[in-house]
Amino acid sequence: MSITKICCIGAGYVGGPTMAVIAQKCPHIQVTVVDLNEERIAAWNDENVDNIPIYEPGLSDIVAEARGRNLFFSTNVEKAIDEAQIIFISVNTPTKTYGKGKGMAADLKYIELCARQIARIAKDNKIVVEKSTLPVRTAEAIKSILDNTGNGVQFQILSNPEFLAEGTAVTDLLNPDRILIGGDTSVEGQKAIQSLVDVYANWVPADKILTTNVWSSELSKLTANAFLAQRISSVNAMSELCEKTGADVNEVARAIGMDSRIGPKFLKASVGFGGSCFQKDILNLVYIAKSYGLNEVADYWEQVIIMNDHQKRRFSNKMVQTLYNTVADKKIAFLGWAFKKDTNDTRESAAIYIADDLINEQAQIAVYDPKVSSRKVLADLDYLETRTSEKNSANVTSFSSPYEACASAHAIAVLTEWDEFIAYDWQKIYDGMQKPAFVFDGRNILNRVALESIGFIYQGIGS
Ligand code: UDX
Ligand code: ADP
Repeated sequence: MSITKICCIGAGYVGGPTMAVIAQKCPHIQVTVVDLNEERIAAWNDENVDNIPIYEPGLSDIVAEARGRNLFFSTNVEKAIDEAQIIFISVNTPTKTYGKGKGMAADLKYIELCARQIARIAKDNKIVVEKSTLPVRTAEAIKSILDNTGNGVQFQILSNPEFLAEGTAVTDLLNPDRILIGGDTSVEGQKAIQSLVDVYANWVPADKILTTNVWSSELSKLTANAFLAQRISSVNAMSELCEKTGADVNEVARAIGMDSRIGPKFLKASVGFGGSCFQKDILNLVYIAKSYGLNEVADYWEQVIIMNDHQKRRFSNKMVQTLYNTVADKKIAFLGWAFKKDTNDTRESAAIYIADDLINEQAQIAVYDPKVSSRKVLADLDYLETRTSEKNSANVTSFSSPYEACASAHAIAVLTEWDEFIAYDWQKIYDGMQKPAFVFDGRNILNRVALESIGFIYQGIGS
């Protein structure tokens, strides 16, 4: 089937950039991205492309090129479903906060709502593509809903997991390591796979497009994220040992990364990984393993999360200890709130947990992040429900200048690896701070020797 109309349900960090790139690379396909969130859609349609709701390097240029030509953002979910031949489901699948599987399983209520809506509206055969990260065998559940509540039309369900990383979404989409498409082994299933392969083939070389069965595709996504997160927890575990022994984790990472079997990527010790995927996907993997009675498998992967939680807690404990065992009423400046550089996403950011610990110790926190609003910072803390929002706003203030955030602070915590931090006038920052002035570099990005020569007391991770 030649595809001319695609719809994507969910205009978030995955759906937005992915559809923008498909539209840019396939001008013959009309791509409509729909979302229930009117504010978000309005922002995607903002005349000034710099106001689109997601910050990703290069994204606004692509939106500017394709929007209104063959890329549309709309709240009219029904119309888009009705017209499309391929429907991507790209809604959020957070970890469940209630009931069975609470804190572990993925909450599929948004996915189920989408499936029911598609079933109700579709009047002709459709290909439904799972784009959100989903637990293995979700496709089966979607298929069952579609086949049993629909209007008798045929649905093919494909799994097409997204491997883009935030902050590099556009380059990851333009030059993916691979595109993975899982589908049914039947003739119809294979035809559906081919339709989606043909879309990607507009810019991705054929040898990078892998096709598998649905379950392999779904499980590959969880496995990829578990392996990546495991590397970070492994190097973070070594960072604690380095601090005790006098080894330097940056040197250790460099030495092991040159082993071609290990490779250099994802070996940066840090205050802990964040983001919407790693923790959620591993918890999901753990839940699936447990549900099959595979307790050793579950425990093995759960340790990656335990290590990550430990790393965050260890960082805040070290700050308190170093600051003479009390941070009460001390001003602590946070450079960075996003979970990594070049994104305005803060989901599961280590900064949230470090702030939470330090507020418990009665610290006054001053946040500067080039892309995160003060409203978001407070919303992230309120979401933890550890204290009232009045208390959070009494202890946390955001600044639009890093120099103001650091003025008269006792210590600085670097929590996101934004490039601009490196270029600051650190002498000026030092001059404005309480003495002794401390820097806790949770990302090991600053120049230790230079900071120490100014007079800072510098503590990195794992050295
Ligand atoms: C991840 C996967 O990389 C991506 O393929 C998948 O589709 C979604 O999940 P993302 O969460 O956007 O992407 O970012 P990623 O670059 O993987 O970083 C995740 C976290 O790990 C960040 O907090 C980052 O700062 C941290 N990290 C990464 C480290 O602490 N050290 C490293 O060496 C690498
Ligand atoms: P991700 O990182 O997976 O893209 P986001 O939370 O950024 O997650 O985006 C998911 C989007 O899906 C949100 O904007 C949300 O409003 C939207 N959404 C959730 N359920 C539905 C639904 N049934 N119909 C349309 N949009 C939905």
